[in-house]
Amino acid sequence: MDSLFVSPLKKIKAEITVPGDKSISHRAVMIGSLAKGETVVNGFLPSADCLATIDCFKKLGVEIERLKDGERLVIKGKGLKGLKGTKEVLDVGNSGTTIRLMTGILAGQDFTTKITGDESIQKRPMMRVVKPLREMGASIDGRMEKDNIYAPLKISGGKLSPIEYELPVASAQVKSAVLLAGLFARGETVVIEKNQARDHTERMLEYFGAGINKTRVTGLKEFEGKEIDVPGDISSAAFFIVAGLIVPNSELTIRNVGLNPTRIGIIEVLHRMGAKLEVMDETIISGEPRGNIRVSSLQSPVASLKGIKISGEIIPKIIDDIPIIAVAATQAQGVTEIRGARELRVKESDRIKTVCSELKKMGAKVQELDDGMIIEGPTKLKGATIKSYGDHRIAMSMAIAGLIADGETTIDDTACIETSFPGFADTVKKISQ
Ligand code: S3P
Repeated sequence: MDSLFVSPLKKIKAEITVPGDKSISHRAVMIGSLAKGETVVNGFLPSADCLATIDCFKKLGVEIERLKDGERLVIKGKGLKGLKGTKEVLDVGNSGTTIRLMTGILAGQDFTTKITGDESIQKRPMMRVVKPLREMGASIDGRMEKDNIYAPLKISGGKLSPIEYELPVASAQVKSAVLLAGLFARGETVVIEKNQARDHTERMLEYFGAGINKTRVTGLKEFEGKEIDVPGDISSAAFFIVAGLIVPNSELTIRNVGLNPTRIGIIEVLHRMGAKLEVMDETIISGEPRGNIRVSSLQSPVASLKGIKISGEIIPKIIDDIPIIAVAATQAQGVTEIRGARELRVKESDRIKTVCSELKKMGAKVQELDDGMIIEGPTKLKGATIKSYGDHRIAMSMAIAGLIADGETTIDDTACIETSFPGFADTVKKISQ
């Protein structure tokens, strides 16, 4: 079993970059494969999750070449009618985004496909995508348990009808599955969201010239391949943003980070907590905003953050960043209350439970709620042996907590970090110099 050993830091003075955005990398492979002709992707995230997406499309007959350590892709797009059926089972590994978005795409194909993933994927609810796709006319079977359906899934697609679908939970994966299926439906498919989730699918489809206007897709309209540049992942940057705020005497710049408005909730939250965080040099490339982020801390960072209440509309915009926000909250003056985040219970692990249990091991004052948590700070954390529960964001959040703990922290079972942030341990080393 892989472990990561973390020692406390006295300061951080560094300038770093983080790997490509995971959500955008998945979509670049998917939309590039469905476009006609060549798509070149720069800054692709060569992590296990995104490689699983490439593998699925290769099995469906798409030629994808990986260059420059896998960060540059050349995709020979097949157009909307070009995917080929396969007898092989598509395996998404640990990737929820791959299985949910692929299910949408496969619903539009006139062949039958089987798709599955690892143990964690087989426990994650799929009814949220299966229900609207069945309404569009796809036939999808899987393992039924209580009222939900789980992978392995068998998807028989074909002639889809457009629907108007109101999302019962704020989820970019569900929204995207329906919009991608909508590419294959005759007419206009509409997704209505009460609370906006990340909009990378909409932006990328628009960038490629597909028939899309906000969350309305006009199906059966071909689009051409393009060159696309992926910015650094703000949810990977988040670990180091928080490190730069809680390790004393720090100054840290992270270059080329994605700043999509539906993803920068972490910046808003940290500003409200009183963080010294500056966003600089903003530009838009390939339809996605990006820029540099600079954070700094005082000699005594304990005084520089304060506890706040976090709930409502911001939750989908910080959904992947709540574990590291919880770490920041342990160093904030007063109480931080996170509510309305029940979705965390169905991520790679039950993140409400896993964040609370592991932070408690380090001496944090945390109370688990049904839909969030209450954290009282500031607390001097102490080194501990931490379990990742096979969840990359738990492993990395707790590693950052280790940078301010008394003594050594060991994070066990860290192979999962590869799903989103290859090179995480090297970046920790880099900021430790
Ligand atoms: C993602 C959407 C979010 C997020 C996940 C990536 C995406 O999931 O947690 O890491 O790329 O669409 P939900 O749609 O389930 O909230």
